[in-house]
Amino acid sequence: MSIHMAGLQDPTPKLPPMLPFFFLFLLFLLGPTPSSAHYSYAVRYTIPLRLSSLAWDPIDEHYLAGSSVGPTIYSISDAGKVQCLLSDISPNSTGAFVAAVAVDDVCHRLIVAFSNSSSVAAYDLRSYRKICALPLPQLDGAPGGVAVDTENGEVFVTSSRRGIVLKVRLDGDGSLISEYEIKNDQGLGGVVHVNDQNPYILVRQTATGKIFKIGSKDGIVNEVLSSGKSNMLAPNGSAIALHSDLSLTVAANQNLLLLKSDGSWSRASVNSNTTVGDQNQWVAVAVATKQEDNFM
Ligand SMILES: *[C@@H]1O[C@H](CO)[C@@H](O)[C@H](O)[C@H]1NC(C)=O
Ligand SMILES: *[C@@H]1O[C@H](CO)[C@@H](O)[C@H](O)[C@H]1NC(C)=O
Ligand SMILES: *[C@@H]1O[C@H](CO)[C@@H](O)[C@H](O)[C@H]1NC(C)=O
Ligand SMILES: *[C@@H]1O[C@H](CO)[C@@H](O)[C@H](O)[C@H]1NC(C)=O
Repeated sequence: MSIHMAGLQDPTPKLPPMLPFFFLFLLFLLGPTPSSAHYSYAVRYTIPLRLSSLAWDPIDEHYLAGSSVGPTIYSISDAGKVQCLLSDISPNSTGAFVAAVAVDDVCHRLIVAFSNSSSVAAYDLRSYRKICALPLPQLDGAPGGVAVDTENGEVFVTSSRRGIVLKVRLDGDGSLISEYEIKNDQGLGGVVHVNDQNPYILVRQTATGKIFKIGSKDGIVNEVLSSGKSNMLAPNGSAIALHSDLSLTVAANQNLLLLKSDGSWSRASVNSNTTVGDQNQWVAVAVATKQEDNFM
């Protein structure tokens, strides 16, 4: 099995504002375990679209990317080929755009968190037909990230403005199950779900870069502390992706960090730190796992 990593960087600070290009980087990691893996090379594609978010679809083996200017989802192949998969222009979503995407490969669903107005929707991963949509005024702001528990289909959405995580079901009309609060009430970014005996989510606080572990059943919140010399685990930013249950890819400025858990995510340390690209900030990252290994 090979593990690849892809990220989006927003180069707009360096290009004229008319040119909404995003860079997609594909980073190839070798080795079956994250600890023995190392970066071999990076490929850069320039994608002529404004994108906000990225997820890997292991069924069709392509990336799914959300638009930051419209309610549109694209697929991006390893070779950088872009295709529009869906554009969900519903009557009350004028001005809507995609804040975050997640893939439930067990239930074959694509989960999309929309901004303006905030909502979350589930689509069939084959036909891209909408299954369910749920407005989320409780977020009190735009969504920061979305993750799905593939064991039971429960979906977690963070607020980019408040320290709030909503747990919802996207069946029938959809329903809010619980609301978890992080005490200092700062905006949250990316979220990932880990299937475990005691399942949990990991959430990144955007302004501080702190990572919180929240029990997905009991809502108990604990900060993941640094086991290294520095008190800070990672700098500010929102993009994270699960690399394995015990390692997390975190995008920070121009760098991609691989954080390694102590086993329970009470503490974690920086396992690798790679600079990719130039002065542009990472806006999204995704990790791809493939069965066949074509890379030497
Ligand atoms: C959200 O929509 C309102 C009008 O519906 C608009 O004024 C506002 O600029 C939009 N915000 C963003 C971030 O697009
Ligand atoms: C769209 O608007 C209708 C009527 O205001 C509301 O009932 C429905 O929940 C909204 N849907 C979404 C996805 O926001
Ligand atoms: C992180 O903080 C620095 C300095 O305040 C700021 O320039 C940068 O835009 C922030 N990055 C993110 C992703 O919020
Ligand atoms: C990662 O490396 C960069 C230099 O390439 C450095 O500035 C940054 O502090 C490092 N981050 C961590 C968390 O080690």
